[in-house]
Amino acid sequence: MNGGHAMAISNLKGRSWGMIGDIVRNAVDPRDYLRYDGSEAAGLRMASEISKRKHILLWEFHEQAFGELPIRLVGRNLDMHGVTAARDWDDLKHILSRYRFFVHAADPRFEDVRRRVAGSFLITFPAHLEDPRARETLETFHRLGGRVVDTSPNYGNSEQVLGHLLGDAGLRGDVFMATKVDREDAAEGVERMEGSIERLGPPIDLMQVHNLRGTDAQLETLFAWKKEGRVGHVGITTHRVSQHAEMIAFMKKYPLDFVQVNYSLADRAAAETLLPLAIDRGIAVLVNRPFGKGQLFDAVKGMVLPDWSREINCDSWGQLFLKYIIAHPAATIPIPGTSKPHHAADNARAMRGRLPDKELRREMERFMDRLL
Ligand SMILES: NC(=O)c1ccc[n+]([C@@H]2O[C@H](COP(=O)([O-])OP(=O)(O)OC[C@H]3O[C@@H](n4cnc5c(N)ncnc54)[C@H](OP(=O)(O)O)[C@@H]3O)[C@@H](O)[C@H]2O)c1
Repeated sequence: MNGGHAMAISNLKGRSWGMIGDIVRNAVDPRDYLRYDGSEAAGLRMASEISKRKHILLWEFHEQAFGELPIRLVGRNLDMHGVTAARDWDDLKHILSRYRFFVHAADPRFEDVRRRVAGSFLITFPAHLEDPRARETLETFHRLGGRVVDTSPNYGNSEQVLGHLLGDAGLRGDVFMATKVDREDAAEGVERMEGSIERLGPPIDLMQVHNLRGTDAQLETLFAWKKEGRVGHVGITTHRVSQHAEMIAFMKKYPLDFVQVNYSLADRAAAETLLPLAIDRGIAVLVNRPFGKGQLFDAVKGMVLPDWSREINCDSWGQLFLKYIIAHPAATIPIPGTSKPHHAADNARAMRGRLPDKELRREMERFMDRLL
């Protein structure tokens, strides 16, 4: 790149963002940028909400790597003295033209998550350790870019089967492993979580308090464990609208990394307060029940896809339902449950191609409201 006049994305990054074949060239006219003058012998780093997202941004790693090199920070960081966002697009172009090098990097595992390399893997239980269909579903899911695996000790023997299959296929280190704890009592929670770690093997990237059970007690352990590196991230889950108010209160009370919540075309309550709050507080969102537990498929049974589905490159209802979620600015990762390889493949295709804009999302809501 000569002088910072063009925005480029590598194929590698494209793959990690699930955008193979969809990279738009010259989305911004290079002539729109100011001439590079390199007048500031320093690097430029653009990031907002840094203090909340240090782990995603690999902040400490970069600070060590850059040592004494001067770096200017630009972004919305109200708690950092002297760090402000660009005033507008012209101001940003002016800033870009002056700096010698740019820094943009994040923890690639987390970036995968934030970038909608979506997915979930639920083994119909009780599954046999050598169950060929479970193995094939898992491998299809991973081959097509799925990286987030959400499970729970409550899902029959799923943890045991997942730990075994992922280890066997050499994929354990290449997934973002999320599981849950559902005990009132702190000591029982510790025992339960240690069981999960043993069955799944480390690392546990995300440990979630299941359905808000014993939240205060479990979070106390979990924040301590996170400090010690025993779990990567901490979250809470629900799949019931009746628990949203309680979940919102916990989102305000604790520095959570993730929430997991029910949200789909069949069930849009989370969009009222919970998802906007997640954006405000920089909390990542996993979306469970993305098909309303299959209810959405029942509603469209026998119907052909509407014409507008082509606008967002969907050739199945599953993709359409998932893209509705992915396009919400907060709902980064739908976690559809499936036990079938062809459904895993279908769901993975929702990671590709165009997403609906606001207008089309509204049209999708009107369309489904007539059927539900
Ligand atoms: N409180 C909580 O923490 C909580 C609660 C509920 C769920 N969850 C998490 O959320 C995940 C998803 O929720 P869910 O499984 O209850 O509901 P869901 O994902 O909304 O629906 C699952 C249903 O959709 C079907 N399906 C999946 N992909 C399909 C496709 N492409 N075409 C047609 N049918 C398809 C599945 O059947 P097949 O198996 O035949 O594909 C299954 O019957 C769970 O796996 C779990 O990890 C968490």
